[in-house]
Amino acid sequence: MSRKLCPARRFGGTLSVPGDKSIAHRAALLSILSRGPIRVTNFATGADCKTSLSAAQALGVAVTEADGVLTLTPPESLSAMRDIIVDCGNSGTTARLSAGIIAGSGMEVTLTGDASLSGRPMKRIIEPLTRMGAELFATDNKLPMRIRGKKLLPFEYHLPVASAQVKSCLLLAGLASSCSVTIREDVITRDHTERMLEALGTGIVVRQPKGVMVVDADDPRKKRMEKSESFANEVKLNSSAHIIGGDVNIPGDISTAAFFWAVGAISGKPVTVTNVGLNPTRTAILDHLKNIGCVVTIDNKRTISGEPRGDVTVQGEALRARKVSGETTVGLIDEIPIVAVMAAFAEGTTLIRNAEELKVKESDRLAAIAENMTRMGAKCGLLEDGLAIEGGKDFTGADFVSHADHRIAMAFSVASLFLVGPSSVDDADCVGISCPEFFDLLPLVGR
Ligand code: S3P
Repeated sequence: MSRKLCPARRFGGTLSVPGDKSIAHRAALLSILSRGPIRVTNFATGADCKTSLSAAQALGVAVTEADGVLTLTPPESLSAMRDIIVDCGNSGTTARLSAGIIAGSGMEVTLTGDASLSGRPMKRIIEPLTRMGAELFATDNKLPMRIRGKKLLPFEYHLPVASAQVKSCLLLAGLASSCSVTIREDVITRDHTERMLEALGTGIVVRQPKGVMVVDADDPRKKRMEKSESFANEVKLNSSAHIIGGDVNIPGDISTAAFFWAVGAISGKPVTVTNVGLNPTRTAILDHLKNIGCVVTIDNKRTISGEPRGDVTVQGEALRARKVSGETTVGLIDEIPIVAVMAAFAEGTTLIRNAEELKVKESDRLAAIAENMTRMGAKCGLLEDGLAIEGGKDFTGADFVSHADHRIAMAFSVASLFLVGPSSVDDADCVGISCPEFFDLLPLVGR
């Protein structure tokens, strides 16, 4: 349903956001492989995480709720699961992580998804899982995908795409099949799987090779830092690794918080999000906010269930353009839509590069951002791997198109607070994928 949006006059406030989506997916799906129950507090409210919970239930997990604690009790045995269909809805994380679990558990399951998910690439998991010995059948490497799990072979893999979903899929395949897995990556992607496995009693070894100083071949007077090995991060699970179970307390989702901090950044009034996740693989958004001219303050820092968290206040001051590329783009993978909106209100031209992955998210996010920027009168060029956004002001209210993508709907709803005249966003309910409360929370920081 389309939603009307009005410009705001008063800004600033404090709020908390739903539990982290990536962490909640993992809590739900790891319970399939656990030996004992997993008790979860602050489970994410979004539809995507409910999808992972339903997937876990379809694969035998019993789910009960009491006093805000979700207890996930694993099934006795998995291999008897045959001819089961698991609907992964809109969620790439559900599809890719559960594929690893199924492939390693000897189950026979078909994964399906909605129109958006059925268009997203699965070759990135089909290819390595097949090399491990699983059988996967998918036309054109897209869902629906039938997986016939097998006893898998020990596996070492260097990720060709920076993807935490692929890394997690393969780790879970190894864990399910009791075979060793070593994953190496060039950029450290979000490490929630590793942290949760550690917190739930699974021995996991993570190693980041140290840099070494080498003499520059072109100029022997100069030295430069080089990686001692050809990867930035290595994650190893051995064949005896298993999940014992335990408690998982989920912090607020930093990727959702980013939409509210953007209101603080653009308006210049402080916006505080309490109890938000501060895992270092997710905090590139805080560095970006500082780089474009915001003051970022963190209070009440603590770590629970292996995940750091704190209360974070963001207040903007004369925003300026800053280039986003390389590892920074990977670190901001889910925040690019709101980074782009902030760029429209910053002084100068913001270049976003190395962002091809955004074309295969819930929508083609690069095209969707460019289209909506144009609708509000901002100058935005679509590059082959990103965007060029010229900062400005006095943009006009517009009818935004979400392409049923939650992050596009939220980003341009934030923009609407700062436009001249009313706006609307179509299919606004899609915010429910990650933050069903979004339109109740937004007036807390801009009204
Ligand atoms: C996620 C990893 C990222 C991210 C997605 C959630 C995860 O996807 O964009 O929203 O929970 O592992 P990729 O692994 O495709 O980069």
